[in-house]
Amino acid sequence: LPKCIRDIAQNPPQIGDTIKINGWVKSLRISKNVAFVDLVDGSSHGDIKCVVRPPSLIPKALNTGAGVQISGVWTEGKGRQSYELQVTEQHGPQIEVYGGVEELYPLQKKTHSSQFLRSIPEYRWRVPEAGSILRMSSKLESFFSEFFDERTFFKTHPPTVTSSDCEGAGELFRIESESKLGSPEQFFGKKAYMTVSTQLHLEVLCAALGRVWTLTPCFRAEESDTNRHLSEFWMLEAEIAFIDDLTQLTRFSEAMLRYIARALQNSGFDEFPDEIKQRWDMLANGTYTQITYSEAIDLVRQNSSKFTTIPTWGDSLGSEHEKWLAGEYYKGPVFVTNYPIDQKPFYMKKNSDGKTVACYDLLIPQIGELIGGSLREHDLHKLEQEIANRQMDVGPLQWYLNLRRNGSVPHGGFGMGFERLLQYVSGAENIRDTIPFPRTTNHCAC
Ligand code: 4AD
Ligand code: MG
Repeated sequence: LPKCIRDIAQNPPQIGDTIKINGWVKSLRISKNVAFVDLVDGSSHGDIKCVVRPPSLIPKALNTGAGVQISGVWTEGKGRQSYELQVTEQHGPQIEVYGGVEELYPLQKKTHSSQFLRSIPEYRWRVPEAGSILRMSSKLESFFSEFFDERTFFKTHPPTVTSSDCEGAGELFRIESESKLGSPEQFFGKKAYMTVSTQLHLEVLCAALGRVWTLTPCFRAEESDTNRHLSEFWMLEAEIAFIDDLTQLTRFSEAMLRYIARALQNSGFDEFPDEIKQRWDMLANGTYTQITYSEAIDLVRQNSSKFTTIPTWGDSLGSEHEKWLAGEYYKGPVFVTNYPIDQKPFYMKKNSDGKTVACYDLLIPQIGELIGGSLREHDLHKLEQEIANRQMDVGPLQWYLNLRRNGSVPHGGFGMGFERLLQYVSGAENIRDTIPFPRTTNHCAC
């Protein structure tokens, strides 16, 4: 493959070598005796400055945004960069324009608002700051792979098409086929949905392989038009056999985030400002607090003047309470454990108090909930009882209950919103700026 700018930065050519660089024009300045072309190619945040003498070598079609190949001599830089490419007349045409730009090209030199960039999904990732978030996303995925691999977890591919509502919240998108006759049809005559969480299938695989994880798209038809909700998002889920204590899960989640944040600190994303790097440091080395739901409710009630709604025991914690707990009160990640049974899905293990379940949400500053996890009820009778209490249809869940009929073992797991983590560690104001083509309430652009 042709060398990209990242390859060149990591392993610079010899001074005096003639090289070719492919890229897109980030900026172009033409003066009387010289022209400067800054090239980017998406491989890193960095660019390469090409110094063109005489400026008449610049083809007409070359403009900000054009795709080009430039040949020149690698030399020591005179400005802010250590190296630059000297482009001269010596060996014939030096600049080939693969594709020019039309006059109305929307990305000009000035900085654009995220909102404007979202309105041009086909171009927005060309902006280096936006591209950095996708490069970071790719890296994070590798770090998670390493983390789980080192701990004998197997990455599996549970389905995104399912017949069950894992969370029981009724926020499913149903699948219909485009019928030739004009009226939509079900999934081969059966009801099927896009998954809200792959947990139930992951539990099947956990009962076979011991420790499994996945990173898959999940879909939620909730009308939450906020800066941290997507209708299609990627959930990282892990399921672990032979654990029976919630702190095993919270400690594991903490170790995972510390690992990822440390890896991020060592991976050279120098373009992020210090205030964002402080977030990485907080996840890597800061304190993770653990409190119960009851304690969280007490704290919120003791500080009631700060909130628009004041929950009593049994109510859910709102986003304002979550952000306050992590962002202002503890100023760091907080595990909130043991929520009331009624607030959580049917599969969670009940605590001996008969009122709460062995579960946790991990809250982080600015975002609120990042992870939700629990021990799973592995006793067939208790699980059947809970399904009956909730008046759920047990028929579609028989395959899941079979796990409890044969070789049932204590186990637990969690799900983490991948884009929410990315939003936090990249500093993106809106979760829509962390996923290439965001699907949100009322919005599916291209
Ligand atoms: O808390 P949730 O709903 O948990 C589950 O679905 C469990 N079955 C996971 C498991 O135990 N395997 O979702 C998990 C996480 C949330 O903490 C949040 O970070 C993210 O998924 N999430 C969303 N992210 C973006 N947009 C949305 N609409 C999200 N809904 C949940
Ligand atoms: Mg949750």
